[in-house]
Amino acid sequence: MRHTKVKDLLNSTTTLHEVNAKGWVRTFRNNQFIALNDGSTINNIQCVVDFENTPDETLRRITTGAAVSVTGTLVESKGAGQKFEIQVTKLEILGDSDAEKFPMQPKKHSLEFLRENAHLRVRTNAFGAIMRVRSVLSFAVHSYFQEKGFVYVNTPIITGSDAEGAGEMFKVTALSFDNTPRTEDGKVNYKEDFFGKETNLTVSGQLEGETFAMALGQIYTFGPTFRAENSNTSRHLAEFWMIEPEVAFNDLNDNMDLAEDFIQYVIKYALDKCSEDLKFLEGRLLEEEKSKPQAERSEMALLDKLNFVLENNFKRVSYTEAIDILRDSTPNKKKKFNYIINEWGADLQSEHERYLVEKHFKCPVILFDYPANIKAFYMRLNDNTEPGRETVRAMDILFPGIGEIVGGSQREERFDVLVEKMKALGIDEEELWWYLDTRRFGSAVHSGFGLGFERLVLFVTGMTNIRDVIPFPRTPMNAEF
Ligand code: 4AD
Ligand code: MG
Repeated sequence: MRHTKVKDLLNSTTTLHEVNAKGWVRTFRNNQFIALNDGSTINNIQCVVDFENTPDETLRRITTGAAVSVTGTLVESKGAGQKFEIQVTKLEILGDSDAEKFPMQPKKHSLEFLRENAHLRVRTNAFGAIMRVRSVLSFAVHSYFQEKGFVYVNTPIITGSDAEGAGEMFKVTALSFDNTPRTEDGKVNYKEDFFGKETNLTVSGQLEGETFAMALGQIYTFGPTFRAENSNTSRHLAEFWMIEPEVAFNDLNDNMDLAEDFIQYVIKYALDKCSEDLKFLEGRLLEEEKSKPQAERSEMALLDKLNFVLENNFKRVSYTEAIDILRDSTPNKKKKFNYIINEWGADLQSEHERYLVEKHFKCPVILFDYPANIKAFYMRLNDNTEPGRETVRAMDILFPGIGEIVGGSQREERFDVLVEKMKALGIDEEELWWYLDTRRFGSAVHSGFGLGFERLVLFVTGMTNIRDVIPFPRTPMNAEF
């Protein structure tokens, strides 16, 4: 007999004569009530064991974490909180779980402890919910772009280019450390390496994505990206997933419109498809915040916060306006910021971004037109900017509790301007010959952005540490599992 998912049993419209469910025991009460979960829903199904006619030996093996198969009738439940339960006629232990040793005890564990047990934390309510929401959000990403006719492009994971020019890359090599081939001047001879050149894990698929946009019109990537930046924060991973749409003939305003519409769509999708999981996560957050001082609690409950983002336009503010706001802000005047904003040109730190979003505007913010020298080489130089105050058509989207969730720009489409910029920054033109070809042959205005998928999942689930929204986080000094 094929087993039925717990979700379908709980959603049944009638009682059923014979059903079979398979899952893992969450709790076993009074030698009688199994709370069974199979991952199909946050909810457990209650299975009532006929303990008088079940051997003690079997009853003893119904422990938290054990895999079991229960067969019986689906009947209306007399207990509160569930419509149906299974009156068990046959119980089979599929896999024992030693109650003394199973780390996921039915009690509250710290997130740190759960991170160390990332292979088992997914058996908890919270992580089951987070990972289901993550899965639905992934699907929403594809659904949005596919509905709009974008082409999904798989850009390479191994590449020779440093798209962001930030140099925070993991090398990919097949050379041996013991007997490394050297050139005459003692440097590593990458000509003898697997690819015959120096390669790294991609930090972004943008440059390759641009070449596709200049043929297919509208494209998006969605894949893993890698950064060897040694920032041990609750917002950074060494391996994270990024979504990068790129659209021919879009300018910066079109780009901002696309990003806003896209984010609202995927959040709405999650609200529609994951209401039970999100309600659970909202409750979890409220519970957690009870122990915090009033000032540190969120102003809105999770679902209100998500709905707020759907119902309100993102505030669009130029970098220059933002600097004025920050310079005049109380934390700046009282020197509460770690980095004091004195003048135009300063790079914004996450404390500034969060001040703008959480204290000043109290809504998602799109900052645009940044100083050219704090942004990447490929961004479109603004026309009519003052010498010494050159700006580029960049935009960052800042979210409450998260900071930067999106970084994007209109791209420099003019061959000469781009080459000059690359020269000034010491970027090898020969290495990027293929990128420059897009500007040599049929160049056009185009724009795109990158959204950090885990930062989106953080926002939607209300979690606060990025390590808790990816199955097996990769961070400095940690690559377990
Ligand atoms: O702002 P970034 O570096 O932009 C790019 O990579 C561009 N090539 C995107 C484009 O225009 N196509 O990264 C984009 C986003 C950030 O806004 C952030 O959400 C996320 O990627 N991100 C990270 N997420 C987790 N861990 C990290 N270490 C991240 N670095 C960036
Ligand atoms: Mg950025």
